[in-house]
Amino acid sequence: QELQLNLEQIEKGGYEHFMLKEIHEQPTAIKDTYRGRMLADEGLIRMAGVDDNLERIANAKRILIVACGTSWHAGLVAEYIFEELARIPVEVEYASEFRYRNPIISEKDVIIAISQSGETADTMAAIKLAKEKGAFAFGVCNVVGSSISRETHAGAYTHAGPEIGVASTKAFTTQITVLTLMALKLAKQNGTISHTEFMTYLQEMERIPAKIEKALKGDEHIKMIADIYKDARNCLYLGRGFNFPVALEGALKLKEISYIHAEGYPAAEMKHGPIALIDEEMPVVVIATKRGHYEKVVSNIQEIKSRKGKIIAIVTEGDEEVRDLADHVIEVPETLEPLTPLLTTIPLQLLSYHIAVLLGKNVDQPRNLAKSVTVE
Ligand code: AGP
Repeated sequence: QELQLNLEQIEKGGYEHFMLKEIHEQPTAIKDTYRGRMLADEGLIRMAGVDDNLERIANAKRILIVACGTSWHAGLVAEYIFEELARIPVEVEYASEFRYRNPIISEKDVIIAISQSGETADTMAAIKLAKEKGAFAFGVCNVVGSSISRETHAGAYTHAGPEIGVASTKAFTTQITVLTLMALKLAKQNGTISHTEFMTYLQEMERIPAKIEKALKGDEHIKMIADIYKDARNCLYLGRGFNFPVALEGALKLKEISYIHAEGYPAAEMKHGPIALIDEEMPVVVIATKRGHYEKVVSNIQEIKSRKGKIIAIVTEGDEEVRDLADHVIEVPETLEPLTPLLTTIPLQLLSYHIAVLLGKNVDQPRNLAKSVTVE
């Protein structure tokens, strides 16, 4: 028993919980994921699973992404990135819905399954179905040799290392890393971005781990905010564009470990319903980084403020405009817009972590949840 406890202490590497350790591992996990694949000096991206099937993937009529939970959110981020950079139409589907709705799949489709565990039953079934209809199946898994990685024609692993916390953190950012590399590679192949743009992305990607380190330094400030809002019954998360899926992911993180009801929305959808919920009791987390509809998000913030909602804004370093409006701001370093999810996710992970800890919840093993859902 004692030995078991000590072992767990060692595994947590000095952190109180696996989740916190895994949040802090993200700079390394992302580096491990692009190392050997992204050769910024040579202006190259090498991914065996893509290289060996380049024609097939680059000429896809459509990319279908299937996944569940956090991996589905990574798929949504990828949709924005693939369409922006590689100009290939993308559809993102909940694997559980896709598999049962007699989907239209052709041989010109490429299906990407995203799964940390590589064992999620619905994602596995979706891949099998798409393969039967002749689509090319590509896996983005973390667990080496997992069922989904074996069932797909090709793939690219996320090198996140073992993720023990039930709430997915480093799996999410490494999935986005792999998918960004893939989108850049296809963009280069299809000539949808210039060489200069391609190089700019590669160089900026290399700066992401250091920028995450910087974002992690906001921890104490975020803990203070967590303490103010820990007793909230509900919470709204808003974002637009590349950061809309980050809003969904932020809300999921809060729900699953603190059991506070949270909803993520595209900021502009607020007017179509959720705005009715806003009063002085309602914390609203808004991702309001520079560019990417910034002015529009600022006007959404004004609408929340005039209804007395409490605003926690994730902003770009040095932002003054939102600071004047929001109750709290959390800064993240500036980066290229499609890469912002890698940074804006960090404070949201920390916020839910601290709220759950302050409420005394079981952060690493929340009630009713399993790390990998192998039954439907
Ligand atoms: C994430 O925090 C969740 N625990 C859950 O949504 C998870 O992402 C989902 O079950 C998918 O798992 P997978 O990536 O292993 O397929």
